[in-house]
Amino acid sequence: MYDSIRPLLFRLDPERAHGLGSAAGRVAARTVPGLLERWYAFESERLAVTAWDLPFENPIGLAAGFDKNAVLVPFWRRVGMGFTEIGSVSARPCRGNPRPRAFRLPADEALVNRMGLNNHGAARIARRLARLDRSRPIGVNVVKTHDAAIAGAAAVDDFTASFERLAPLASYVVLNLSCPNTAEGKTFEDPNALDDLLSAVMATRNRVAPRVPVLLKLSPPESDRVVLDSAVDEILAVGSNHGVAGYVATNTAADREGIDSDSDLVVRIGAGGLSGRPLEARSTRLVRYLYRRTGGRVPIIGVGGVFTADDAYRKIRAGATLVQLYTGLVYGGPLAVRRLKEGLVSLLDRDGLHTIGEAVGLDA
Ligand SMILES: Cc1cc2nc3c(=O)[nH]c(=O)nc-3n(C[C@H](O)[C@H](O)[C@H](O)COP(=O)(O)O)c2cc1C
Repeated sequence: MYDSIRPLLFRLDPERAHGLGSAAGRVAARTVPGLLERWYAFESERLAVTAWDLPFENPIGLAAGFDKNAVLVPFWRRVGMGFTEIGSVSARPCRGNPRPRAFRLPADEALVNRMGLNNHGAARIARRLARLDRSRPIGVNVVKTHDAAIAGAAAVDDFTASFERLAPLASYVVLNLSCPNTAEGKTFEDPNALDDLLSAVMATRNRVAPRVPVLLKLSPPESDRVVLDSAVDEILAVGSNHGVAGYVATNTAADREGIDSDSDLVVRIGAGGLSGRPLEARSTRLVRYLYRRTGGRVPIIGVGGVFTADDAYRKIRAGATLVQLYTGLVYGGPLAVRRLKEGLVSLLDRDGLHTIGEAVGLDA
């Protein structure tokens, strides 16, 4: 069905299309939940995984940014997602950057966005989360409020304020260090800033939600060719000192590496984070690097350019326990979830494996 409405949606501004699709999803989850479940049903015990002692029915989840305000969680469940990550949520509500701020590059199966961390804010989203059925894992992605005036110690306070509100309601919390859309840049990927942030966040965690796993979301490596340098190792060292429980690799790319779209179009679009197909190999590389460096001791969520079961399987074999998608949903619609799960089971059969857990890290 999505295949037939996609040409219409793609005539609209991407953010408008997103709004319409989301509204339809909300209505469908409320009015025809059984129908959705039948349409999208595909269950296999072979896809079940455990991470942070939490059971996941399958390893396919929603990437941050699609459901920033946690308004579609019942829909994701009905279409068979193993988990949902909401956010990024900031301490204060935020309108984000002026529109237009999301763009398609269909020739590359990619998107460029400079949303600017628009969200309803931690207090409102916490109230919404508290009312939700949380029996399936819900990750909460938190970020500093998009305001360049909040810097230094104030930035740490801002981050911990949303953590404090949301962590008790989350299956896991992701600290979004890597969003390239803020005027102040990637301050929390700097090891000293990260050390300060994690000291404060972990102290808060011990007080309000001592068991919640804390993960870090990272930027993609600079390019396909560059060898991963000490920057990632420094982040891993700081993370490990503070008991970080996992990594999400990766966020969107600030550069335009690996795209074939018309260069005039790319220039006209301007700044923003690149997602989708061009990110696939880059994010998989970082997954593999993280898996090797951590010796597989902490679960990794692989995200970036997952469209097909092969893409998801490559991430898993590189070391991802869980996989997420955003751009693949825009191009493929919600049926992509079922296709990914069916495809993963076929790939397990091909490789003579019984469960998806057996595939994690095989290519690392
Ligand atoms: C429009 C848009 C908004 C996004 N917003 C967020 C966000 O708020 N926080 C975050 O951590 N990642 C955000 N992302 C990044 C995605 O979670 C994901 O890391 C990235 O898009 C790569 O995955 P994909 O190729 O499957 O899209 C956003 C991506 C897009 C396309």
